[in-house]
Amino acid sequence: MQLPYAEPFKIKMVENIKKSTKEERLEWIKEAKYNLFKLSSDKIFVDLLTDSGTGAMSDQQWAELMLGDESYAGSSSFFKLKNTVTNLLGLPYFLPTHQGRAAENVLFSVLVKEGNFVPGNSHFDTTKGHIEFRKAKAVDCTIDEAFDTTVQHDFKGNIDMEKLENVFKITPKEKIPFTLITITCNSSGGQAVSMENMKAVRKLCNKYGIRVLYDIARFAENAYFIKKREVGYENKSIKEIVKEMFLYTDGAVMSSKKDGIANMGGFIALREEEIFTHACTYNIMFEGYITYGGMSGRDMGALSQGLKEATEFDYLESRVGQVAYLGKKLKKYGVPVQEPFGGHAIFIDLKRFLPNIPQSEYPAQLLAVELFIEAGIRGVEIGTLLADRDPITRENRYPKLELLRLAIPRRVYTNNHMDYVAVALKNIFDRRSEIKKGLEITWEAPIMRHFTVELKRA
Ligand code: F0G
Repeated sequence: MQLPYAEPFKIKMVENIKKSTKEERLEWIKEAKYNLFKLSSDKIFVDLLTDSGTGAMSDQQWAELMLGDESYAGSSSFFKLKNTVTNLLGLPYFLPTHQGRAAENVLFSVLVKEGNFVPGNSHFDTTKGHIEFRKAKAVDCTIDEAFDTTVQHDFKGNIDMEKLENVFKITPKEKIPFTLITITCNSSGGQAVSMENMKAVRKLCNKYGIRVLYDIARFAENAYFIKKREVGYENKSIKEIVKEMFLYTDGAVMSSKKDGIANMGGFIALREEEIFTHACTYNIMFEGYITYGGMSGRDMGALSQGLKEATEFDYLESRVGQVAYLGKKLKKYGVPVQEPFGGHAIFIDLKRFLPNIPQSEYPAQLLAVELFIEAGIRGVEIGTLLADRDPITRENRYPKLELLRLAIPRRVYTNNHMDYVAVALKNIFDRRSEIKKGLEITWEAPIMRHFTVELKRA
């Protein structure tokens, strides 16, 4: 019999979490105006809000904290991190930032101008925010298969080459600063991008003289999917696959809080010196000197080690395997989920879970609220609230997918926690016909409303 995978680590320290009663949770969620971001974390039993900055560091990473060099300029921790990034990705120019959106802010300050178009595969919300803030437009060129959660497709993060070429054909070249590939694609469900697609995008961009950039928050999970699903990569190591992925880009922005298994951090990696030089000025203005960019030396050391661990096959097999474990359980209970399962999260399809609740009543947020009340679990809405309003018409933007995301922190929970989550969702699914009304907004911010929005039951 073939041996199953098992976590390539054992547990040295634990953090206690507390259960609560349904009565308490009903009260707390009402006080939080039905916005789970407003709940204090001691009220949560299993926190699947995000996999960002919530991972458990290894003993080697904690050891790196003690080796941190906190010199303002020229810190040895910076060079340690830079070497790791350059060795892994093969991109020579490197700038640390305090997190992913800071990397976007710095690099887009150089590249994105008013009236520009940035095509890509379902840009993440901060990315879109940084594009729209500069009065430019993010154009979604994701393949159509990504928007039907029942369709089986190994690479639902892929860019539709026809859609991309259409953008190139109708837009003057100087208005497209770059094409952005988000790897894996968070917004479509933690979906992978194939190597073939990266190559094809590179080729087309070369033809039209357009730069390619990657958003690489979860690049290691993407490499794992390539190894498992794409012909010709089954015998390559994760690090070899990562190296090849980056042959087809001019640079990348990274939120190190995901596949860096760090609690904080980000970076920019580039091939072009000229853009790097320009970005350095913005980094100094917004983030800090170019050899720390908002990170402490010890955190740069821990990140350097985290990147090495996150690109090990055994780690990725147990990490992505745990996400799939939850996905399979939910599927067994009939709960509709995006397939294939994502690398970092399971996404529940609300158009199939609560088909009678219209998107104008925020069904994914409603399920997030119900799940908290049911079992003290916190997920996050990836639907109409997150999609925000159109910046010009101020109308709600209704996304094609209305999802509740259950993001699994790295190396934090056991499969017993996954069983607990699956049963909680089954219980709600079994009584879904009793759920007749959604939610209504009572207050919202003009941009990125989902973080602070206040709601009531409709
Ligand atoms: N790009 C992607 C694909 C992301 O998922 C995120 C963050 C960012 C950029 C921004 O990075 O948070 O370090 O500033 N995603 C988190 C999430 C917040 O929960 O998915 P950041």
